[in-house]
Amino acid sequence: MGARVVALLLFLAALACGQDPKPESSPPKAPPAKKEPAPEPAKDVKPRPIPADWPPKHEPDKYAARRSRMVTKDIERRHVKDPPVLRAMRAVPRHRFMPKAKVAEAYEDRPVRIGHGQTISQPYIVASMTEELQLKKGMKVLEIGTGSGYQAAVLAEITPWVYSIEIKRPLAQRSKDVFKELGYTTIKSRHGDGYYGWKEAGPFDAIIVTAAAPHIPPPLVKQLKPGGRMILPVGPRTATQDLILLTKDMKGKTRTRSLYPVRFVPLTGSLGSSD
Ligand SMILES: C[S@@+](CC[C@H](N)C(=O)[O-])C[C@H]1O[C@@H](n2cnc3c(N)ncnc32)[C@H](O)[C@@H]1O
Repeated sequence: MGARVVALLLFLAALACGQDPKPESSPPKAPPAKKEPAPEPAKDVKPRPIPADWPPKHEPDKYAARRSRMVTKDIERRHVKDPPVLRAMRAVPRHRFMPKAKVAEAYEDRPVRIGHGQTISQPYIVASMTEELQLKKGMKVLEIGTGSGYQAAVLAEITPWVYSIEIKRPLAQRSKDVFKELGYTTIKSRHGDGYYGWKEAGPFDAIIVTAAAPHIPPPLVKQLKPGGRMILPVGPRTATQDLILLTKDMKGKTRTRSLYPVRFVPLTGSLGSSD
């Protein structure tokens, strides 16, 4: 086997779900050249009152300093700037979404296995994808791939109206339990195939998919409001994928932009091996 093939295999082996494939030693990501202006609020939004028990108040925990250090070192320094996203990343107790045996790894900037062949995504990727959604309080957001529930909790620190779908029943149940324990009363989550979205709850201001699809699922595009934003990894299951940002203008016209390479587990169900 040639040296280049060995290097490529080592590189792929280092990758894991929900992770950016840049080596640890790479310099901080350059700031994006120019941010698009925030979309106008969709016209059909009927403002719903913000519930009194939102956002949840968390008990002080012994990981707060480590969590804050992780946000400063691994997220802010890599140019995630949106204050609500940084606040959310400092607020969510990531250790509570991990299997007990992995709690010590909760504040390292990398994905961690959560069982059932799945992972909780790398904190930097969670923050960066959330920032791209330009989420505001009161917006409605759909997540495909609840997994541990961590990404949904980050979204739920920014807006109460979070919907999340998970295809693996035990993970769907476990994340529901954690949401309850931590007081995320406004997150609506269910077991099912997220390829088809959540039609009865839509349309959504934002959609985030945390598993890699071979193409952009048309039902999700349909369930995105005019002015909405969707972020998802698109590409083959065995290699790196492109993180795609899809925007829909007020006339319903969509545009896509590739942001950076990522490595996620595949979207299963209709598209691949069913559960
Ligand atoms: C990278 S993990 C998710 C990480 C998660 N967002 C978190 O914060 O822990 C991807 C998840 O997508 C789920 N998944 C894969 N295909 C799916 C589908 N068609 N519908 C819903 N969930 C799916 C997997 O079971 C897995 O839990």
